[in-house]
Amino acid sequence: MLDSYAVIGNPVSHSKSPLIHTAFAQQTNQAMQYVALLAPLDGFEATVQDFRQRGGKGLNVTVPFKLEAYQLATRLTERAGIAQAVNTLKFENDEILGDNTDGIGLVRDIECNLAIPLAGKRILLMGAGGAAQGVILPLLQQQPALLAIANRTPEKAAALWKQFNTYGNISAGDFLYFADEHFDIIINATSASLHNALPELPASIFAQAALAYDMMYRQEPIPFLKFARQHGAQQIADGIGMLVEQAAESFFIWRNVRPQTKPVIAKLKSLV
Ligand code: ATR
Repeated sequence: MLDSYAVIGNPVSHSKSPLIHTAFAQQTNQAMQYVALLAPLDGFEATVQDFRQRGGKGLNVTVPFKLEAYQLATRLTERAGIAQAVNTLKFENDEILGDNTDGIGLVRDIECNLAIPLAGKRILLMGAGGAAQGVILPLLQQQPALLAIANRTPEKAAALWKQFNTYGNISAGDFLYFADEHFDIIINATSASLHNALPELPASIFAQAALAYDMMYRQEPIPFLKFARQHGAQQIADGIGMLVEQAAESFFIWRNVRPQTKPVIAKLKSLV
């Protein structure tokens, strides 16, 4: 029987993960299968345990189950513990290892694929939900000059400041709080793009930005990226590269083999 993996979520049919992991498996000659697994909103744990009992080796976890996966894991990596969210489960004997590869996926996409080093840079991270929380530590580990966290509800940004300020130079506020500052890299980790909305950012903030990055990917243009480009951002990128890079890290955790990401990113882009 082939080793079996899946992405679990609700909804999940739109997920690109089966395509990505199948491409990785072919490229690296791994005998495995990878499918999409829909879990009822109140049935995450039961669906995981059933998959495991049928011999499943590992899962990617997507919306809305990353917190439940964090709670289900019997052992956590440091980065998953700090993010308080899990996107990768690995089943080993009686243990469920929980990891979070989102942050490293973002860092690799920016540094390796877009060739923009993060060290010494001034970064603005927009959003203070689960998506933002998962990438803060990996961003700080690259030693930016500043990581500013801006959120519509500033109290949530302040709570993240409290949680992470010992790991690097962070500041927190609402979007207007940073209006007069300049940033090299501006990352949208809000869920605004999901709803085709644009966070209310001052346009002037993009004047000196080398990169505006949206962690979402979708077929239609993303309002945030369009706005950033119009107001001076030199380069824009959506979350396709991050998606493939986080998948590659999960693949490595499961198979101990590192796939090449560039051809898979190119393939996904050609499908959009
Ligand atoms: P996720 O896990 O995707 O981060 P979440 O935890 O619900 O989802 O967080 C959503 C984030 O997007 C929050 O930072 C939210 O801002 P608030 O904390 O003020 O609610 C942000 N967000 C969603 N829609 C937005 C919009 N139209 N403009 C600005 N921020 C928005």
